[in-house]
Parts: sequence; structure tokens; C-alpha cells
Amino acid sequence: MLPLRLSRVFVSASLLVLVQCQENPGVGYPHDYPGKPKGPFSPAWQNYFEVTEPLPNVTWSLPRNFAGNIPVDRPGHPNDTLFFWAFEKEQGSLTAQEFERSDEPWGIWLNGGPGSSSLLGLLFENGPIHVAANYSLYSNPYGWDNLADYVWVDQPVGVGFATADNTGFVADEDQMGEDFFSFVANLVEVFPSLKHRPLHITGESYAGTYIPYITKTYFGLENPPVKLAKIAIGDGTIGNVWVFEELPTLTVIETYPQLIGYDHDVFKYFQEQSHLCGFDINLTYPEHGHFPTLGPPFAGLGDSTRKKHDASKKFLLKTALETDARMNKSNLKARSLEPGSERMRRKEQWKRDLTGRANGTIDPWYGCDLYDEMIDYALNFSLPWKGNDENGFDVYDAPDALDPEAPMDGSVFLNNNVTRAAIHAPTSKDWVESINYPFGNNVNNGDPSVEPMAFLTELATNASRQHVGVLIYSGNDDTLVTHRGSEVVIQNTTFGGIQGFTIQPSTPWYDDNQEYAGIVHQERNWTYVLIKGAGHLVPMQQPERTQAFILLREFILGSNETGFVKTFGSHTSVVGGTDPNFAGVLTGQSGIYYGSDATQGTYTYPAATIGQWETFIWGATQTPYVPTNSCQVQEQASLDSSLRFPEELIRDGRVTPSTSATLKESQSKIVTKTAWLLKKRPFCVYVYKERTSESRRKSSSCRTNTSASEQDRPGSEPVINASPITARTKRSKQSNALPI
Ligand SMILES: *[C@@H]1O[C@H](CO)[C@@H](O)[C@H](O)[C@H]1NC(C)=O
Ligand SMILES: *[C@@H]1O[C@H](CO)[C@@H](O)[C@H](O)[C@H]1NC(C)=O
Ligand SMILES: *[C@@H]1O[C@H](CO)[C@@H](O)[C@H](O)[C@H]1NC(C)=O
Ligand SMILES: *[C@@H]1O[C@H](CO)[C@@H](O)[C@H](O)[C@H]1NC(C)=O
Ligand SMILES: *[C@@H]1O[C@H](CO)[C@@H](O)[C@H](O)[C@H]1NC(C)=O
Ligand SMILES: *[C@@H]1O[C@H](CO)[C@@H](O)[C@H](O)[C@H]1NC(C)=O
Ligand SMILES: *[C@@H]1O[C@H](CO)[C@@H](O)[C@H](O)[C@H]1NC(C)=O
Ligand SMILES: *[C@@H]1O[C@H](CO)[C@@H](O)[C@H](O)[C@H]1NC(C)=O
Ligand SMILES: *[C@@H]1O[C@H](CO)[C@@H](O)[C@H](O)[C@H]1NC(C)=O
Ligand SMILES: *[C@@H]1O[C@H](CO)[C@@H](O)[C@H](O)[C@H]1NC(C)=O
Ligand SMILES: *[C@@H]1O[C@H](CO)[C@@H](O)[C@H](O)[C@H]1NC(C)=O
Ligand SMILES: *[C@@H]1O[C@H](CO)[C@@H](O)[C@H](O)[C@H]1NC(C)=O
Repeated sequence: MLPLRLSRVFVSASLLVLVQCQENPGVGYPHDYPGKPKGPFSPAWQNYFEVTEPLPNVTWSLPRNFAGNIPVDRPGHPNDTLFFWAFEKEQGSLTAQEFERSDEPWGIWLNGGPGSSSLLGLLFENGPIHVAANYSLYSNPYGWDNLADYVWVDQPVGVGFATADNTGFVADEDQMGEDFFSFVANLVEVFPSLKHRPLHITGESYAGTYIPYITKTYFGLENPPVKLAKIAIGDGTIGNVWVFEELPTLTVIETYPQLIGYDHDVFKYFQEQSHLCGFDINLTYPEHGHFPTLGPPFAGLGDSTRKKHDASKKFLLKTALETDARMNKSNLKARSLEPGSERMRRKEQWKRDLTGRANGTIDPWYGCDLYDEMIDYALNFSLPWKGNDENGFDVYDAPDALDPEAPMDGSVFLNNNVTRAAIHAPTSKDWVESINYPFGNNVNNGDPSVEPMAFLTELATNASRQHVGVLIYSGNDDTLVTHRGSEVVIQNTTFGGIQGFTIQPSTPWYDDNQEYAGIVHQERNWTYVLIKGAGHLVPMQQPERTQAFILLREFILGSNETGFVKTFGSHTSVVGGTDPNFAGVLTGQSGIYYGSDATQGTYTYPAATIGQWETFIWGATQTPYVPTNSCQVQEQASLDSSLRFPEELIRDGRVTPSTSATLKESQSKIVTKTAWLLKKRPFCVYVYKERTSESRRKSSSCRTNTSASEQDRPGSEPVINASPITARTKRSKQSNALPI
């Protein structure tokens, strides 16, 4: 993951190369603990790496686990190591002999940054040990080690508990890939069954750069030390910053129109800027031809203009913050959004500037930094973000406007000397969650490597040849590295001989409680999964929403066919059906969390505002999705006679029943066909009802009484739920159920 607390400023710093004075903080060397074997890596090292001493605050029994530093064997850099922490799926699975359990999968998890420790993933996302806001620990029943032997790896050298000497940091992603496989070659000498078992390399965020490079390195190895089966990238930086961050801004706004206060003019403005910047790439299924390269000096922005923007970028939020602080001091009222307040005056001015400006020009201040412009707009004008500092805008999770957030800090546990000794961690350096990675040993350097998009088609060709599966997933609420960017990357890549998916992803999938979990699409060994209600850190799930665990079980390790495109001659069908309502943009939840973590509430815009927006947005966006037969695909899902839409959607005006007709009545069944408008896109629902004497009596009223009842009509007041809810339960507030 990208570093959470430093938020976007850090991301910009690392991706856009801003100067930040900092000693290389990752420098260190591994610590030799008693009993360290002499000689090369072998199963004899298992005893050394096994974590046998009790870990502080771990009050339950953990599966057998192993941890420590392993060198990357880079000549001249003996202290360059990666750090691993591996958990067994079941007693003896990790320590099996070579050739045993050869069809049992294993996995590696990587966080991003660049410079973020994968122990963040272990402690806050998908590991068996989780750290609570009050620093106590608790057991995560959805640790990915429940499904396979899993290894969390701190890399590249110098990150987290991985060590590097002063001049030992990787120069670029190719060196990262080489280091990674030298480490892996040593690791599998310790656990020899891993040499032959199917390896799944999984990770998120900047691991979207690491994993393709690791895979590329793998394909270049004559005798790879492992058998790679699949790669899975979540919210990953596969394209360049323009593709994953700037291009999707309009999609983010469509998903969360709250960010612009549901303002139609502001949307049109961003839509126009998007067009002028070349961000309105229209995805078609199948694709015809490649997309242009996005980036400076794109859309007429000269390099120097761009540089100016990059340099000024980091000051924007700071300036906004200082302005706020000044206003706060001089005039508390200025912070309010009451009519007549300073903020409202400025908002009006901003809009007057919009209407008065010369159309067809890119904003001279923001240029094509639409993402920053959107955040500034939200922080300046939109409830409930307005007046927050940058921490009040969670780039990783749109509906989270909490400020401050609950602490997420693994350092107390990891740097505790008892923990350190138990997991054989270095003592020469402290663990920090993220460093600004000093590529080429210079913290002012960004990553000099080209983004993976540049070689993805070649990678895909290699992957097809060697039967390596590719899975790309996204949390729908991530604003920073969004699903839209990943979709552009997929559609711009040729795999299995064809460019992009041939059918637009729009098949719903469901979690173990049969709740709607997002969409999934699978074609030619590439899988795309969109996860509803998850942010950038997809596995950071609340206990009641376990999509990431199911994602791993069904689609990464498993071969669940939901969303799979089957071709029989000229006929294609998609397992689980397709549904236009799930194509393109999935609207986010209506409530936005605000306040501090301790006193949070939710803010929901007035239903009338939302209703007007739904009408507006349908007209303002052309979705090129043309379902072949949208009615056909609902049949299966609608067999459930209890089919109904959540009250919330009807109240918000998002679902409007329009026409309804009984198609067929027989002794045993009534089939009602209802054309609904969801997000103003028409689709059809068949309702099958077993005919009972009661349903016979009710059937006529069912058919006529399909419009929202009076009390469900859109109101005009925002719905503010200020009752304290805990961070752990906030997710359950949303309605994910969309039973179609
Ligand atoms: C810390 O928080 C957890 C749940 O978040 C709670 O169960 C535990 O009692 C808290 N511990 C302390 C010492 O407050
Ligand atoms: C590696 O670490 C050792 C301490 O274990 C130190 O003495 C040595 O100078 C380090 N080597 C380099 C190249 O930094
Ligand atoms: C593809 O495989 C070849 C070896 O067959 C290798 O040289 C090349 O680097 C690989 N490229 C990618 C992008 O995987
Ligand atoms: C995408 O489609 C819209 C609407 O048809 C059009 O205005 C726009 O120019 C298209 N974008 C590109 C890059 O072709
Ligand atoms: C699409 O692919 C082409 C060809 O590989 C590449 O030149 C271009 O930069 C890519 N465009 C985007 C938006 O990723
Ligand atoms: C938001 O406020 C900052 C600081 O006052 C200002 O520089 C910026 O232009 C504003 N942004 C928008 C989109 O109004
Ligand atoms: C605004 O003022 C309040 C009360 O004086 C203070 O608690 C808060 O920190 C101030 N906010 C900023 C951004 O300075
Ligand atoms: C620019 O377009 C907006 C509508 O988006 C319109 O209200 C405004 O008058 C136009 N400005 C000029 C100078 O034509
Ligand atoms: C153990 O948990 C307590 C809270 O229950 C916390 O104050 C303490 O810092 C934790 N210690 C470690 C080593 O994590
Ligand atoms: C941890 O530190 C404490 C005091 O700082 C010391 O008493 C204890 O022996 C240390 N434990 C280990 C395992 O190093
Ligand atoms: C997909 O994977 C299967 C099994 O590994 C393989 O047989 C098939 O050829 C692959 N298909 C494509 C289009 O790569
Ligand atoms: C495939 O995964 C879905 C989750 O969307 C689940 O409902 C379904 O039961 C799974 N199918 C099989 C055959 O396991």
C-alpha cells in the first residue's frame, strides 16, 4: 500500500519526484541470532527462522510461522537482504519435503509505496495478526494464510525490516526483480516444497509496478527457482500516473458526486477539462487500436509548465490549510458553508469564473492535474470535507472524511525488542512503515523505470505461453489508483492474441452471505475483479465484509468461473450473465463518514439533490454499453421471489420502477416483467412468484403498486447520522445488497 498517514503528498513526492531532504533511512544490516546455521540455505535453517518465543500482546495461538532476513546475494552488498514472515496453512505444510504437496498453492504478499513495508499488509490487511487503534493485537480470522502458505515480504532492500547498505538500494525495477529472485531462490532452499508448488504473487498499489517487473524477470530466467502460477495486482500502478490518477478523476466524481456537492455545472466543468486533457478515452469491447500515450507534454502542456505544476502541487493543500488556519483565527464564520459566508462567496465566485471563462481551455493553474483540483474543490467547498486539512480527504477511501483517523501504527509492536528477537528482525534499524525509496541511493530520485504498461503486451504473451494467470482487482472506493485506470490498461493490452476484453465487465459476484460484492470478468486467463465498498486497501475489511478473502479463495487460488466468457463457435456467453447496471461506473455509498474517529457520524445529501443528480448524470454521460439482451440475463438472479430493491435506493431516487406488465400467468407461476430505471439506465427484471392463494390475491396490486410510496419520495433535508459508531462497524452502515 501507499503510506497512509502521509497521504497524497507522499505519493506525489515519490511518483512525481519532488525534493525532500532525508537521510537514506532504510540502511541497516541483519542481526545474527543464536543458533544461526553456518553454510548455505537448507532445511536446517527452518529451526533458526521459526518464531518460537511468545510475541507480546498475542494472546491466542498462531499457526507455525517463520521469519528473518535473507540476503539477495548482490555482489559487493552483503548486507542487502529482504525480510520475510511466513505463516503455515496447516501444521507441516510449509516444511514439507521437496516434491511433497506439489499441487498445493503458496502466496507472497507485497505492499507498495515505493518504500512501504509489507508488514503493513500483514498487520492491517490480510495477515493473521492485526493491530487495533489502541495498539492491542487481535486475531484476524480472514488471514490469507488460512487458504495457503503465505509469505509477507519486505522489499526492495532497505524497506521495513529489509536491510541495505548505504549504496545498496536498488537502482531501478530491473534490479528489484533480480534481488527478488535471488531472495526467493534462497527462501525455497529453506522450504524446498515451495520450489515446485504453484506460486501466487499478490500485492497492491505500487506493487502494481513491482509485480509486472518481477514477472518479467521470471520470464527471463533460464532456470527459475519457483513455479509461478498467477499474479494478482490490487489497485496497482500498472499504467503511469496520468493513467491511474489523473485520467480517472471524472470516474471518481461520478462514483462519489458528493465530492463536488452533486453540482451539475462543476461536473460539466470537470468533464470538459477531462476532454481537453485527453482523459475521455472511450473503452470499447473489443478494442480497435491502442490508446495514445498520456503524460507531459500531453494536451499542449509544455514540460516546463508541467514542472511548475509538479512543484506547486505539494503546496496546494498546505496553502489551503494555511488559509483555513488564517480564516479560523480571524473569522470563524468564514469556515462555514452558511449562505453569505466567506466560503460560500468563494464558491459562487468559482462558479462565476466557470461560466464567464473562455470555454475550451485547460485551467492555467491546475493544468491537467484534475485529481488535485478535485481534492481542492472538495476541501474548499463540499460537505462534509470542507474545511478539513488534507488528512480529512482520504485518497484511499472516498467516503472517509474522518479527521483525524484512528491510528494505524505497527511500529510499537514490531520495534518492541521481544517481538524483534522473536521474529529475527534487525536491531541496526527501526521498522518504519514507509520510506521515500532512494532509487540509486538518492532520495531525490524517483523510480527511473518505465511503467509496466509499456511492456504489458509482451508480458502477457510470455504469460500465455507459460500459463501464468493474471488477475487485476480494484476497490471501488479508491480515488488514487482507480479501477478506471486498470480498465484502460487492460483494454490497451493484447493477451491471448486479442486486445482487451471483448465484453465489458459487468457480471456481479456475491460474498458468502449472498451479498452483492462487486463485478468480475474473466477472459483468456485474465481476470478483473471490482470490489464494491472497498477502498485502496482492499483486504482491510471489516469482519462482516470479507470480499478480499473470497477474492483469494475463489478467483486467485480458485478457478471460480463467475464472469468467465465462454465461446461456442460464434456464440459467446458469460457465466453469471452480464448486466448494464454493473458496467462502467458503480455509484458509491450515499453516506460520507465525518468527524473524528471517536465521534464520527455520516453525512448524506438531501434525497432530492441525489435524485436530480441521477437524472442529470444519465444525460451527461454516454455509456457506450449496449447490452445484447439486458432482460435475458436477469432471469436467473430474479428467481428469488423476495426480490426487492433496498429502500435506500428507492428513497435516493436511484431506482425508479417505470413500467410493469404481467407476461404470463399460469396455475403455478406469475411472471412479472418490470422495466426499472436504475441510474437511469433501463433494464428488465422478471419476477417469478410461486402462485399461492395469497399471491393470487395480491398479484394485481403488486403490478400496479410499483412506484415509490409517498413517504419514499425524495426529501429535501440532508440525512445526518451523528450517533457515534465505531470505526470497526462503519462499513456495515452501507447497503451493499443489490439483489439483481
Ligand atoms: C483496545 O481495543 C479493542 C477493540 O478495538 C478492545 O477490545 C480492547 O479492550 C481495547 N484495549 C484497551 C486496553 O483499551
Ligand atoms: C555490513 O554490516 C556489518 C555489520 O554486521 C558491517 O560491519 C559492515 O560494514 C557492513 N557492510 C557494508 C558493505 O556496509
Ligand atoms: C518475455 O520472455 C523473454 C524470454 O522468453 C524474456 O527475455 C523477456 O524479458 C520477457 N519479457 C517480458 C515483458 O516478460
Ligand atoms: C469519447 O466519446 C465522447 C462522446 O461520444 C466524445 O465526445 C469524445 O471525444 C470521445 N473521446 C475520445 C478520446 O475520442
Ligand atoms: C497504450 O499502448 C500503447 C502501445 O503499447 C502505448 O504506446 C500507450 O502509451 C498506451 N496508452 C496508455 C494510455 O496507456
Ligand atoms: C481551494 O483553495 C485554495 C487555497 O485557498 C486555492 O488555492 C485553490 O485555488 C482553491 N481551489 C479551488 C478548486 O477552488
Ligand atoms: C480552528 O479553531 C479551532 C478552535 O479554536 C481549533 O481547535 C482548530 O484546530 C482550528 N483549525 C485550524 C485548521 O487551525
Ligand atoms: C462556457 O460554457 C458554460 C457552460 O458550460 C456557459 O455557461 C458559459 O457561458 C460559457 N462561456 C463562454 C465565455 O461562452
Ligand atoms: C500491547 O497492548 C497495549 C494495549 O493493550 C499497548 O499499550 C502496548 O503498547 C502493546 N505493546 C506492544 C509491544 O505492542
Ligand atoms: C528488552 O529490553 C528490556 C529493557 O529495555 C530488557 O530488560 C530485556 O531483556 C530486553 N529483552 C530482549 C529479548 O532483548
Ligand atoms: C489459459 O490457461 C490454460 C491453462 O493454463 C491454457 O490451457 C490456455 O491455453 C490458456 N489460454 C490462453 C488464451 O492463454
Ligand atoms: C463462485 O463465486 C461466487 C462468489 O461470487 C459464489 O457465489 C459461487 O458459489 C462460486 N461458485 C462456485 C462454483 O464455487
